[in-house]
Amino acid sequence: MKALVYHGPGQKAWEERPRPTLERATDAVVRITTSTLCGTDLHILKGDVPTVGDGRILGHEGVGVIEEVGAAVSSFAKGDKVLVSCITACGRCAFCRKGMYSHCRDGGWILGNTIDGTQAEYVRVPHAEMSLHALPTDADEEAMVMLSDILPTGFECGVQNGQVAPGDKVAIVGAGPIGLAALMTAQFYSPAEIIMVDLDPNRLEVARSFGAGQSVDSRSGDAVRQVLELTGGEGVDVAIEAVGIPATFDVCQQILAPGGRLANVGVHGQPVVLHLETLWAHNVTLTTRLVDTVTTPLLMKVVRSGKLQPGRLVTHRFSLADVVKAYDTFGNAARERALKVVLNA
Ligand SMILES: NC(=O)c1ccc[n+]([C@@H]2O[C@H](COP(=O)([O-])OP(=O)(O)OC[C@H]3O[C@@H](n4cnc5c(N)ncnc54)[C@H](O)[C@@H]3O)[C@@H](O)[C@H]2O)c1
Ligand SMILES: [Zn+2]
Ligand SMILES: [Zn+2]
Repeated sequence: MKALVYHGPGQKAWEERPRPTLERATDAVVRITTSTLCGTDLHILKGDVPTVGDGRILGHEGVGVIEEVGAAVSSFAKGDKVLVSCITACGRCAFCRKGMYSHCRDGGWILGNTIDGTQAEYVRVPHAEMSLHALPTDADEEAMVMLSDILPTGFECGVQNGQVAPGDKVAIVGAGPIGLAALMTAQFYSPAEIIMVDLDPNRLEVARSFGAGQSVDSRSGDAVRQVLELTGGEGVDVAIEAVGIPATFDVCQQILAPGGRLANVGVHGQPVVLHLETLWAHNVTLTTRLVDTVTTPLLMKVVRSGKLQPGRLVTHRFSLADVVKAYDTFGNAARERALKVVLNA
């Protein structure tokens, strides 16, 4: 089969690899029909994710059709359409039993990281019972593939951890696919105001079309002042950090109203300064989380109902065999006005 293989920082190729086979009775092999690229794949290509070694097939998002299942898999059979979760879960270890699939002792984020991933014609999925979700045959694959990673990430790490509630003022810093997923799912709870912060005017425009009432262009470096102005000097109840750099974490900690919640979603590669000297008396809560994908079934129902339309995030489409071109487009997201780049097999 063909697959997108990582060969160290800056190097990747669409090349011939052996087709995966069942290794354990709990595995399934899935023929990929739709996949997509994630910002994390770009981090890997920069060499920021040391767990990914030379020769690894990338990708942790996908929809496909079951090719083969191990003897211990009873919920799925050859021919079933499935969603592949970015998180693999055994369902039995202590962390899985707490709903913390991301910390599964025999799983977590392993696809396209420590085992071969979904930017390939076929993928082996361990613990298939817990790590795949059944899809109806007529499912909109482009919408569903957003459930592999970005929708549960924005919802769990941003909206749920931030405890967005009716009437809240919410600021989301970072209008990439994850920030936009938080924006879409925050609206389940009827917040009074959602303020989107980004440097990219195109993404802010997209955010407004997805329901952000206010947007703050932070290129001038005064995002804090602008958010405070928009909230009558009070600040926001929830600040969702969806970038992953010290500057945006800092904005979030400076725009919280008393009792506010700062939900960090971004993957940080550097330390940040936590201003406890001002925050200590503000009754604030700071949360962090690696996506667990426990809410995928719930989100899937909302997508099926048509109330959530994540397919609107798709800006570009390529055939799977053109995945290298897809990376070029996604790697220049601002210039290409790219959000989610979908690969069709
Ligand atoms: N916690 C988790 O489990 C988890 C899972 C997946 C992704 N992530 C992380 O979430 C973050 C967002 O992911 P994404 O795919 O949307 O990324 P992205 O790079 O597409 O989006 C980031 C956005 O931040 C904006 N930005 C950059 N610097 C800024 C600044 N100084 N002020 C305001 N905006 C700024 C960019 O213009 C861009 O629109 C990343 O750090 C990613 O690694 C976390
Ligand atoms: Zn991802
Ligand atoms: Zn487990």
